[in-house]
Amino acid sequence: MFKETIYQFRFLAVLLLQSPCFAEQYNEVSFRDIRVVRDDTLESNGSLNSLLTENPFLGRNDEDDFTWLDDTIKDIAYYLRSHKFNEYDRRYETNAANAPKEYYSMFPRPPLKALHWEVQQFCEPSFLSCMKYVKRRLKDTGLKRQDDTSIVIMEQKWTKAKNLEQIEEIDNECRKMRDKDNIVADPFQGPIERFQWRTTASYYLCWYTMNEVPDLKHIKESCDNFAYCLDNKYGEKNFAYCLDNKYGEKNHDYRAKDNVPFACATYSFCPDPCCSAFKHTIEPIICHNNARNPCYETNPEGKRRCGFVRSENRNFHDIILNRWNVTCNCSDVDECGGNAHSCDNNTEICVNLPGSYECACRWGYAWNVDENKCTEHNALAVIKKERKEEDEERNRTVAKSLVKMLYAKLVALKSGYPGCRKFAYNSLIVLEIVFANLS
Ligand SMILES: *[C@@H]1O[C@H](CO)[C@@H](O)[C@H](O)[C@H]1NC(C)=O
Ligand SMILES: *[C@@H]1O[C@H](CO)[C@@H](O)[C@H](O)[C@H]1NC(C)=O
Ligand SMILES: *[C@@H]1O[C@H](CO)[C@@H](O)[C@H](O)[C@H]1NC(C)=O
Ligand SMILES: *[C@@H]1O[C@H](CO)[C@@H](O)[C@H](O)[C@H]1NC(C)=O
Ligand SMILES: *[C@@H]1O[C@H](CO)[C@@H](O)[C@H](O)[C@H]1NC(C)=O
Repeated sequence: MFKETIYQFRFLAVLLLQSPCFAEQYNEVSFRDIRVVRDDTLESNGSLNSLLTENPFLGRNDEDDFTWLDDTIKDIAYYLRSHKFNEYDRRYETNAANAPKEYYSMFPRPPLKALHWEVQQFCEPSFLSCMKYVKRRLKDTGLKRQDDTSIVIMEQKWTKAKNLEQIEEIDNECRKMRDKDNIVADPFQGPIERFQWRTTASYYLCWYTMNEVPDLKHIKESCDNFAYCLDNKYGEKNFAYCLDNKYGEKNHDYRAKDNVPFACATYSFCPDPCCSAFKHTIEPIICHNNARNPCYETNPEGKRRCGFVRSENRNFHDIILNRWNVTCNCSDVDECGGNAHSCDNNTEICVNLPGSYECACRWGYAWNVDENKCTEHNALAVIKKERKEEDEERNRTVAKSLVKMLYAKLVALKSGYPGCRKFAYNSLIVLEIVFANLS
């Protein structure tokens, strides 16, 4: 009987520990401030090799002329912004009008079954080889960066007051090229290959950005446009209005400030897990007070700032799978440290929460509904009994330490990351049953 229980228990323990809720970052979830916001699983084995590029900076020679590189980075940033803000899932959607265009909030789900082979071939060895390849490829795209209304306005220093007619003319041209490009997708075989190409390129460029390739620190031009002519949220009839609104040549998004290191690269190549609800926003506060902010639920108002830290998001595989790590404001009063709590030291432990604390039953104690307090679990009483057989005793010790570890983890989870709370509650119930059988 005991043997069987141990076996079942080991099985359960393995199951529990394999849950994503027990990934490293959840271990002390109420005390640390890093959490995963999305967690896709890879559908198929596909051909996603682990990325071998140890040093993304390989291949540089300081004496070479790299002015071509600056232009290439601007071009690809433009081309991939167009994908991020305007593209829909060409694999599954046939109706462009109704398809969601939300790659500003996450990479495609499910992820690509296979990376675009050519991008992979050139972008895996080094950043420089990647950029040389991209330069060749972008030569023949339909709508080019330098033909986009927003870039023309910027380079010609046009203003609405003085150059309205010219701007309108350029924008009409831009839209024609854009609409043609939407169908033809030069230089690719069609929009589906372009989708695969741009998604793969975004994976690599986002990875290069997170790994802080120096060339991506500043892209040296304004990147706060959607790379879609004068993208007009309100319909394209009223041109002057379109130029006025914030979606045109300058959307003033605070995330797209080229003077902030890597901001334009992140804005162009990566989704924003902190502010996934908005294609456009000019104030952080709007993101912070939105329920889709991963810090929203657990943190009180005024402490909901969500950080997308590059050093926490450097794994190529996890980038593809949208396993983003964000940081929330945890500069919290530690109620449990002092005597500011009212937990019963004998039967309860204090668990620190953002802005508050919670009392949880100590290991071996369970919440007793009738008595409205934590009381000793009868399984603990059984475990406490001495055993004659040494062998059995040893096994029990192993089991007990496992139970103990799991219990502590579950208690921490229960009051930590909201997505794992239900999991923790349910698992605690199962664990109590195991307790009871551990005799
Ligand atoms: C995925 O495919 C590769 C090569 O085809 C193979 O070596 C590997 O074992 C596969 N992985 C899984 C989890 O099936
Ligand atoms: C965290 O919240 C405190 C207020 O409790 C605030 O003073 C501080 O600036 C916040 N930190 C960040 C990074 O937002
Ligand atoms: C997020 O953090 C976890 C734990 O450190 C890590 O395994 C994972 O690769 C990270 N995600 C990314 C995108 O790097
Ligand atoms: C509970 O324990 C803490 C230290 O672990 C101690 O500072 C505190 O005084 C104790 N509280 C009570 C009510 O015994
Ligand atoms: C204790 O564990 C060992 C190894 O897992 C096993 O061979 C042995 O049968 C167990 N003893 C009892 C009494 O369950």
